[in-house]
Amino acid sequence: MKKLETLLVEEKEGIAIITLNRPKAMNAINDTVMEEFGYLFSEGLDMASLKGIIITGSGEKAFIAGADIKEFMELDVDGGTKKSAFGHKVFDSIENCPVPVIAAINGYSLGGGNELAMACHMRICSDNARFGQPEVNLGLIPGYGGTQRMIQYIGKGRAMELLLTGDMIDAVKALEYGLVTHVTPQEELIPTALKILSKIASKGPRAVAGIIKTVNAYFDNTVNGFVKEINFFGEAMGSDESKEGVNAFLEKRKPEFRK
Ligand code: CAA
Repeated sequence: MKKLETLLVEEKEGIAIITLNRPKAMNAINDTVMEEFGYLFSEGLDMASLKGIIITGSGEKAFIAGADIKEFMELDVDGGTKKSAFGHKVFDSIENCPVPVIAAINGYSLGGGNELAMACHMRICSDNARFGQPEVNLGLIPGYGGTQRMIQYIGKGRAMELLLTGDMIDAVKALEYGLVTHVTPQEELIPTALKILSKIASKGPRAVAGIIKTVNAYFDNTVNGFVKEINFFGEAMGSDESKEGVNAFLEKRKPEFRK
């Protein structure tokens, strides 16, 4: 893997922890951060050997406080469109990653940072986390998929209110809204993410990748998710992985799935 400037990557027993490391800028996503996420999810990470990925922010104050506003002054219509399109491409690659990705939200999750969290397959947060899409305060709208993905998690009415007011919600409300699935004390955040991913790591990786693909198909209006499910179910049934899973059940033993 090439040397990265803004992202720290460590691997523990097949689980990669990616930490956005710009604490002085509240871990804001500048162009380098976006390029480095793009690199990791296209070629940098060895998906064939990984069983899970955690994305978090450095420090205890911010997960990611949005796109780096300091880069905005230079941008015109063309620059803004290109920035947004590249962000979409990178976040789509996270959403479509065959290995499960958890956002471990350790503080402010704002703007482009919250959009990154929403591109992950699961979100958990520490009890000091705060969530929002404050772009409207800058005369902007979310540019990395936030207007679309937020509706998927919290529904149109709540999404409209958060997007139009730019208000933040706390961890308890985010849990109530379904934006996150667990709230933990700060020190238990990464252990909780590791626990969830370790559990998934004991399942068949083919089935895990198939579930991610089929669930994502529901939100892709160019494909029929039900047809995708039928096709994947058939493929899974014919795989060595399911033979092992079914045999293990019948033989009353733990399955041994291989990556
Ligand atoms: N971009 C660049 N720098 C940022 C930043 C951002 N999004 N958020 C915080 N920072 C910087 C601040 O400028 C400050 O830097 P200096 O010390 O050099 O002045 C440093 O981080 C600390 O920030 P604050 O002093 O403001 O800290 P605070 O505790 O008082 O407030 C905060 C924290 C509520 C997160 C506040 O910093 C804030 O509101 N940040 C901006 C959030 C925002 O608007 N995000 C949306 C960006 S637009 C976007 O994301 C578009 C998109 O969809 C693609």
